[in-house]
Amino acid sequence: MRLQDCHNFHDFRRMAKQRLPGPIFNYIDGAAEDETTYRRNTDAFRDCDLLPNVLRGVTDVDMSVTVMGQKLAMPVYCSPTALQRLFHHQGERAVAAAAGKYGTMFGVSSLGTVSLEEARRISSAPQVYQFYFHKDRGLNREMMARARQAGVEVMMLTVDSITGGNRERDKRTGFAIPFKLNLTGIAQFAIRPAWAINYLTHERFRLPQLDSHVDMGSGTMSISRYFTEMLDPSMTWDDVAEMVQHWGGQFCLKGIMSVEDAKRAVAIGCTGIVLSNHGGRQLDGSRSAFDQLAEIVDAVGDKIDVMMDGGVQRGTHVLKALSLGAKAVGIGRYYLFPLAAAGQPGVERALDMMRIEIERDMRLMGCTSIDQLTRQNLRIR
Ligand code: FNR
Ligand code: LAC
Repeated sequence: MRLQDCHNFHDFRRMAKQRLPGPIFNYIDGAAEDETTYRRNTDAFRDCDLLPNVLRGVTDVDMSVTVMGQKLAMPVYCSPTALQRLFHHQGERAVAAAAGKYGTMFGVSSLGTVSLEEARRISSAPQVYQFYFHKDRGLNREMMARARQAGVEVMMLTVDSITGGNRERDKRTGFAIPFKLNLTGIAQFAIRPAWAINYLTHERFRLPQLDSHVDMGSGTMSISRYFTEMLDPSMTWDDVAEMVQHWGGQFCLKGIMSVEDAKRAVAIGCTGIVLSNHGGRQLDGSRSAFDQLAEIVDAVGDKIDVMMDGGVQRGTHVLKALSLGAKAVGIGRYYLFPLAAAGQPGVERALDMMRIEIERDMRLMGCTSIDQLTRQNLRIR
């Protein structure tokens, strides 16, 4: 299978599956427990229909948006994801460069394999730094200082991962950072020699956001141990309020789902929230962000930038979320499978396909700018 053969999310997923050792593919593709939330995330878009208008003169289409003070050329951004170097040796470098080329925001995870400073140098696009709240308060402040120094535009605190999700596919393979695998897992690496050679002939696996503070890169700690041992389950709204104050710039919470929490995010001075269930990887049975979007926009949409992620695979999914009032939409696996399949050209092709789909779909909807998309354009079945 070649990159030119990829025309949609499913093609990229198939190509990634061919290239990646099973445990790594399943880490990306998998989710928590019965994966019902994971499936629901995409299905939610199918329970809602677009209602187009016609004959409106749609020669010039402007799909740019402004979110959290950042002007984006397209209303889709690359949500932060961990361990990209395991998916392709270019890792975060590929995603940062592709986002720069398409004028959109990209996230660097605190579990990223390229430093936020290097990502900053690669791309002029707005950079999000995703972090978790550690037990060690000094470490939290250090991370913010470092992000400020690097010129990060947006801080994104992930709040839905107070403990690790129950990912059964990873349990079966023994997947852990970087390579703690059981025998089944190891056997699956042996049948992907091209990946293994590529991985071994490039620079050593590291977690530069954490490795001065946490002994993870040496393979001693799994992701779930990181979540249970390093992160602080006692964290409260007061702790986060202090961080928001300390940062004093664009700050959003990723993983807000309830109206009550959305209002609290406004109250402590956040400038954005991301409705998200972490791609179904945390609480299985949690509602999809798209299903919950209208309720949140109605409650706080005039006070804070509401974003969403989860299950987005098509331009029409993006238009549906924007019609309900999202300011921008995050993608995860939509760019990760292309990264795994082909590195930077893969991510670029995926973003290009998304851009072309959105432009075509806006024309078919009779819209020339994002603000023309409203709830009049939608019907829930
Ligand atoms: C993630 N996600 C994530 N989120 C986060 O805040 N920090 C992280 O380190 C990661 N890591 C991560 C790894 C992988 C392999 C995946 C698939 C996801 C969640 C991500 O930012 C986003 O919320 C979801 O991926 C959105 O769902 P879709 O687009 O993948 O369906
Ligand atoms: C994940 C974590 C790292 O979803 O956020 O795998």
